[in-house]
Amino acid sequence: MKLKDEFIKFFVSKGHKQIPSAPIVPENDNTVLFNTAGMQPLIPYLKGQKHPLGNRLTDYQKCLRTDDLEEVGDATHHTFFEMLGNWSLGDYFKKESIAWSFEFLTEVLNIPVERLAVSVFAGNEIIGKDEESAEIWKSLGIPDARIAYLGEEDNWWPNMKLLGPCGTDTEIFYWRSDEKAPVEYDPNDDRWVEIWNNVFMEYNHTEEGFTPLAHKNVDTGMGVERVTAILEGVNDNYLSSLFKNYIKLIEDYAGKSYNDSEYTASMRIIVDHIRAAVIIVGENSGVKPSNTDQGYIVRRLIRRAIRHENKLGIDINSDFLRTLIDSIIDDYREYYPELNENRFKIVETIESEKTKFNRTLEKGLKEFNKICTSYESKIPGEVAFHLYDTYGFPIELTTELALERGLSVDEEGFNQKFKAHQELSRAGAEAKFKSGLAGTGEVETRYHTATHLLNAALKIVLNDCNIHQMGSNITTERMRFDFNFDRKLTDDEKQKLEDLINEWIEADYTVTKEEMDKEKAVESGAEAMFIDKYPDVVTVYQIGDVSREICTGPHVKHTGELHHFKIKKEEASGAGVRRIKAILN
Ligand code: SER
Repeated sequence: MKLKDEFIKFFVSKGHKQIPSAPIVPENDNTVLFNTAGMQPLIPYLKGQKHPLGNRLTDYQKCLRTDDLEEVGDATHHTFFEMLGNWSLGDYFKKESIAWSFEFLTEVLNIPVERLAVSVFAGNEIIGKDEESAEIWKSLGIPDARIAYLGEEDNWWPNMKLLGPCGTDTEIFYWRSDEKAPVEYDPNDDRWVEIWNNVFMEYNHTEEGFTPLAHKNVDTGMGVERVTAILEGVNDNYLSSLFKNYIKLIEDYAGKSYNDSEYTASMRIIVDHIRAAVIIVGENSGVKPSNTDQGYIVRRLIRRAIRHENKLGIDINSDFLRTLIDSIIDDYREYYPELNENRFKIVETIESEKTKFNRTLEKGLKEFNKICTSYESKIPGEVAFHLYDTYGFPIELTTELALERGLSVDEEGFNQKFKAHQELSRAGAEAKFKSGLAGTGEVETRYHTATHLLNAALKIVLNDCNIHQMGSNITTERMRFDFNFDRKLTDDEKQKLEDLINEWIEADYTVTKEEMDKEKAVESGAEAMFIDKYPDVVTVYQIGDVSREICTGPHVKHTGELHHFKIKKEEASGAGVRRIKAILN
């Protein structure tokens, strides 16, 4: 049985519409580097925007969490994972949500009630104790002793500090042990593992405080990797059917056993990191390894995996990596067709990062071993920077190597050195990643509309209707826009782009939106970036008669709000892709 298929089928039978997984790198949202939860691409709708497919949605979503990347290596941590979810946008609330979760778990997955427990919100100054959810659980057969009332650290999502849509939740736990489940649920006993989180999203948290959302929503999330392992009765996620073939492949190439505790962690790290890299690089917008933002995460994932391949003694000239990549793509292509379409790019990108790193890895390791003998407890920042600069060792790798020898690294010293050398520091990227689930502000909205104008203007000025957006990124400071074109733009072309866009801004065109069938939208000439990724019904934004694009928004009402458009930079961004950075003032 495939959990993802069963889940979607179940919620479709309850009147939900399936929506496609959004790209793992959020478009037009600079507040996070990656989607970290299924609800993230739905934030505009949770805040009140009407979704073209209605009020009941379900999907499986590609997610990536990097905050505990270094924890990967144990039995349960992953960077990339898939999250199943169902949403009510102002439609049903606690009763149906809880009842359907219970029905899915006990009747579709056949989990015995004896193995289930739940927690509900204990109440705080904003909202009272969630007796309602507790009563619903009891009516379904969950005994009192299996219901815990917990505070905001457990039953508020995401947490009281982060901005954006939020609310109390009820979490569902599964007894993962061969011993008989105790009568009472004990939140401190880690044999009770969380399998599902139903959030009752009622508030928008802004700088001003908690304000009620336009309507009450339900947002649920279930992790595919964890629940698959549970259903298959294994305590180690990497031994579930999702991963075991990859582990076997590593064992074969390394000639070592997963059960040998010296190698277990390395094998998990390789599987996790390469799977994540395949998914990220395999997107149509395609992130490449680099020293900033998402690219830096991809670089860290690949380099850490390569280091562990090396540790396992896998021959670097063997076709191991390629075989692993191919089998990951084959397992996921049915769900994410872009992986198969981009197979060549994925293999090439990961292999070339491997080659690059391999060139210096051995020398770097030798150097590191030498360095180690000179320091008793802490490796200075400048030495770590030297390893980074000369041998391509991400700081996290140096820290990990140091830790294996009982040493630490002066990361602050490293960062100081690093900052002096880089325009955009890793610390900045991490801070951005951690900054949470903020919404789209006014400035970002103006930039967002500007990307549509630029997309249209490029086709006219460069006289090529095959130019399309390959990616975009917006901050409050600037916009970045990638498009397919194979040469540098001339000064004259850049001037013409600015003039044309400013002409459109001055004309103060009205921006309108309309929902329609995907096919109709495309037939009507709407620009579509990832046609296979859109739901059947889409939103089309029309700007005067100059631009027409499928997009979820938000956008300004009139182009005059953009004031003035100016190109700051035009440069290459990969083969056949150019990048424009521009500002509005
Ligand atoms: N947003 C909640 C979570 O990530 C439920 O989907 O757990």
